[in-house]
Amino acid sequence: MSTFKAPKGTYDLIPPDSAKFLAVREAIAAPLRNSGYGYIETPGFENVELFARGVGESTDIVTKEMYAFETKGGDSLALRPEGTASVLRAALEANLHKLGNLPVKLWYSGSYYRYERPQKGRYRHFSQVGAEAIGAEDPALDAELIILADQAYRSLGLSDFRILLNSLGDKECRPVYRAALQDFLRGLDIDEDTRRRAEINPLRVLDDKRESVQKQLGDAPLLRDYLCDACKAYHEEVRELITAAGVSFEDDPKLVRGLDYYTRTTFEFVHDGLGSQSAVGGGGRYDGLSEMIGGPALPSVGWALGVDRTVLALEAEGVELELPSTTSVFAVPLGEEARRVLFTKVTELRKVGIAADFSYGAKGLKGAMKNANRSGARYTIVAGERDLAEGVVQLKDMESGEQSAIGVNEIVAELESRLG
Ligand code: HAM
Repeated sequence: MSTFKAPKGTYDLIPPDSAKFLAVREAIAAPLRNSGYGYIETPGFENVELFARGVGESTDIVTKEMYAFETKGGDSLALRPEGTASVLRAALEANLHKLGNLPVKLWYSGSYYRYERPQKGRYRHFSQVGAEAIGAEDPALDAELIILADQAYRSLGLSDFRILLNSLGDKECRPVYRAALQDFLRGLDIDEDTRRRAEINPLRVLDDKRESVQKQLGDAPLLRDYLCDACKAYHEEVRELITAAGVSFEDDPKLVRGLDYYTRTTFEFVHDGLGSQSAVGGGGRYDGLSEMIGGPALPSVGWALGVDRTVLALEAEGVELELPSTTSVFAVPLGEEARRVLFTKVTELRKVGIAADFSYGAKGLKGAMKNANRSGARYTIVAGERDLAEGVVQLKDMESGEQSAIGVNEIVAELESRLG
């Protein structure tokens, strides 16, 4: 073992478990690809100001959790703590919104960084697959995203998750609510910091996890009771569309998310087998974000699902993904001539799309067969000098144990037909 370990709050993805992560990313991406979302990739770091303005100056993410640093050239950057601000920044920079094809639908997959207190399900480096639909105000778009996330989780075999749904209002009704909430918060017994927070961003106080604060919030006014008619109608339409799609959800009037850019529809996917870090995904509408980062008005909606927590959810439910073995054929040469012949055959197999691997290093038959077994290959081809002298290789079906001699020149066609 080396003297170096993965940094605190991080872990490595290594085989065979890493295959599960790939499968989860793939399962989340598949419904998006199938619904008009195009792939986008942005840098792992951005100007720190993008997140300060986008995610919000008074959020934990920006004040406590951001990996911010100054470069040697004097730029203030931060490792991305989330993807929405970056994706919108990139879309604006590339003028995607001006191509006359709104909404611009994008999906992404990557690493995100938050300096959080590490615990199970909460890491400093984690992985999300996300989707953003930029530039349209349409309840069907909000519904589409919720339905696609539900479909992704179900396709993985998950069932113990719930969808929490709320509306955070818009620039008409939120200020009225904000004032009412501030009035309420002023009457509470809270520390100076929280009092200050209540003045700057009272909704953040609702998200305070401390018991001493939470127990005083029982009678806090609810945004639901302050929504303007337009927000109410919009929210009702979203609810109807997802209901009609057979996706069940729970209204959660207290759901406030940890990022400031949300307006109207907000939702979270929680899994009941995960303990305190139960949010496997979340998202919502962010109609004001574009203007907050210097762009035109572009009402948008999106979500991000946490890959790490989705894998934990699979484990909590005891779901075993069907991960077909990656190697179909394993070649075991006995002797130098066989090495050259079988290496050529492996290359030919790979060319026709058959996943094949080879016994490297000087190994005896026993050691090589062990590798063949471990590879999970359905077939092994073994050849020694005597086989080659007869122009054949031994083809072994690892499931049935049956073995037969096949002509060296027929082996690729034979395996193609057997593997369908
Ligand atoms: P978020 O709720 O902050 O939203 O993160 C989304 C998901 O990322 C969480 O539900 C969780 O599964 C995962 N996650 C977050 N922090 C950690 C962590 N420290 N360790 C492990 N997993 C974590 C966003 O990031 C928004 N950008 C979502 C969005 C997209 N809203 C609109 N569009």
